[in-house]
Amino acid sequence: MNFAELNKIAEAMVAPGRGILAADESSGTIKKRFDAIGVESTEDNRRDYREMLFRSSEGMKQISGVILYDETIWQKAKDGTPLVDIIKKAGSIPGIKVDEGTKPLPACPGELITVGLDKLSDRLAKYYEQGARFAKWRGVIDIGAGIPTYTCLRANAHALARYAALCQAANIVPIVEPEVLMDGDHDIDRCVEVSTLMLKLQFEELYFNRVALEGIVLKPNMAVPGKKSSKKASVEEVAEKTVRVLKNCVPGAVPGIAFLSGGQSDEEATAHLDAMNRMGPLPWALTFSYGRALQAAPQKAWSGKSENVAAAQRAFAHRAKMNGLAALGQWKADLEKKAA
Ligand code: 13P
Repeated sequence: MNFAELNKIAEAMVAPGRGILAADESSGTIKKRFDAIGVESTEDNRRDYREMLFRSSEGMKQISGVILYDETIWQKAKDGTPLVDIIKKAGSIPGIKVDEGTKPLPACPGELITVGLDKLSDRLAKYYEQGARFAKWRGVIDIGAGIPTYTCLRANAHALARYAALCQAANIVPIVEPEVLMDGDHDIDRCVEVSTLMLKLQFEELYFNRVALEGIVLKPNMAVPGKKSSKKASVEEVAEKTVRVLKNCVPGAVPGIAFLSGGQSDEEATAHLDAMNRMGPLPWALTFSYGRALQAAPQKAWSGKSENVAAAQRAFAHRAKMNGLAALGQWKADLEKKAA
């Protein structure tokens, strides 16, 4: 393990005013996104869509790294250039999702365990050769009646820590993503409680697995009420409660925290990140690693038509710019309106 190199990459992933584009939707998830805009999910369409994002020179200015799906990391653009080279040329770092999705967790009805540790070290070596310098693994924690169980939290934290140790041994920075879902009807304080317990267990497991915290990026959920909750939370409440959870759980040795958007609207995800960065100074960089909150607008603008490419790239550049400002605590709501 090259500690200095891992730390350098982690720092670059969370550099001031920049964040990560999560473009690693699995085949099933990208099909859902394409269905919504009336586009058939073929290998070529997936390539064209992602190539369009990576070639958006304006949008990529704020993108420090791109998380790819296995199919994409081996793909070439229409003109034969490997997509990985387009990302590097844009000044961004290629990364790769390495988990293999979820399976039901035995004896824990309704709960999931993320799988993919078998042969992971062989796969990591190949991804490194292909240019990946960081990876992602997502554990999923649902909140509901009687869940999450301690079994589910512990099993997912352990798998994430084993993954992180294997990544570092392969000189790849692990993004550690223990996601507490916002699907339920729970309030924000229940989210705070579950997120706190998960992060406490996560950092204990990282320690026991000898992971160097200076060479990871944490990708957590924000503290938000469930989507079906009748109790909404203000931007200030989300920001304050999220930062409180993180300060209680995340050691200062971690270079940066890059949030998932998790189903928040584009503008909510930006406003929350901005409000947190206005609460500084903080022990770590706080930025974005958004999938939906960066891609919903360009997907809609594109709708699979080549004549819409410029408009879609503009929509992507706008969201990237807004989130880049939020990562500095310099976003303002009226900037959204001006551009619209
Ligand atoms: P969302 O921002 O759409 O939640 O996606 C981020 C991600 O990578 C989830 O694993």
